[in-house]
Amino acid sequence: MAFEHADAPAWQPLVDAAWEARSHAHAPYSGFKVGAALRTSTGDTIGGCNVENAAYPVCVCAERNAIGAAVARGMKPGELAALVVATEAETLTPPCGACRQVLAEFAEDLPVLLVNRHGRALHRLKDLLPEAFTGRHFTPPPRGA
Ligand code: THU
Repeated sequence: MAFEHADAPAWQPLVDAAWEARSHAHAPYSGFKVGAALRTSTGDTIGGCNVENAAYPVCVCAERNAIGAAVARGMKPGELAALVVATEAETLTPPCGACRQVLAEFAEDLPVLLVNRHGRALHRLKDLLPEAFTGRHFTPPPRGA
């Protein structure tokens, strides 16, 4: 498996893409710039950065912006293969709870690599969000109901 270990070479293009995306972060309110990059099972690498707003609750995390960009390029549930989150924080930055839920919509079990200037750590989404609520937990009403 290409993304099984934190030091696997397959991570490098994603790490580079996450740092590149981070350089575009719009974070004037927190000053905390975050970059994310994901790989789809069809081979696309797609970045995202956090985009803040003067109305604080409207801020969107890097991970969710990467997901939105990937969906706009055709990514379907089950096609999310790997994710990197890059910050310059001393402590590695894990995805927030809302982002974990959004990631779970697109991946059964996602390898999530956290990186900063000092190191990296590999997690699995199933460990970050155990017993996730998914579309399998309810039956949607028929269309038009
Ligand atoms: N943020 C992310 O983009 N991703 C994370 O994993 C953690 C937090 C952003 C949201 C906000 O713009 C800033 O970091 C501070 O919370």
